[in-house]
Amino acid sequence: MAEHRLGILISGRGSNMRALVEASRVPDSPYEVALVASDQPDAAGLAWAVANGIATFARSPTGMAKADYEASIDGALRAAGVEAIALAGYMRLLSDDFVARWRGRVVNIHPSLLPLYKGLDTHARAIAAGDAHAGCSVHVVTEELDGGEVLGQARVPILSDDTPDTLAARVLVEEHKLYPRVVAAWLARQGRLALR
Ligand code: GRF
Repeated sequence: MAEHRLGILISGRGSNMRALVEASRVPDSPYEVALVASDQPDAAGLAWAVANGIATFARSPTGMAKADYEASIDGALRAAGVEAIALAGYMRLLSDDFVARWRGRVVNIHPSLLPLYKGLDTHARAIAAGDAHAGCSVHVVTEELDGGEVLGQARVPILSDDTPDTLAARVLVEEHKLYPRVVAAWLARQGRLALR
């Protein structure tokens, strides 16, 4: 049995979630994926998770107060025995309360070399700035958007004919390698992550 139970929050295609699940299924993985939750019930990644035998939770926040919505996600994560959360294309800002409740136990992957280009449109901004490299970062989630401690990064050269889409595709390949490696190392470094 893996030592840590990971929950993954997604909103869309879920390719990073899939990379995390696949990496968890090799011998000696320090984590197993206990739940994939989504704010988009029709997210493509959810269908993949169901087809691959992962427990899922899907609920749209439409018509719900943010606190109630987050309480439902929190409840599903706790019911699944989740100790740590990986955000993987989760397109909703977590409230300060939620972040405080899971302090130090939530990570995210962001498609830039943080602290550069927090927020959206990272690849277009890196190209417009004339940067030589783009990349991706795995960081601890804090109240500051894309602002917590960086746990690992991968760099990708920007080619002269790159568009945001071609660059995003090459960075994504690196995301799929970086995220499972950093999550495994991060979890392996900690003892039991006691639920509060
Ligand atoms: C990735 O580029 C990730 O860095 C960003 O959102 C995208 C999610 O893609 N946070 P996917 O759903 O994991 O395929």
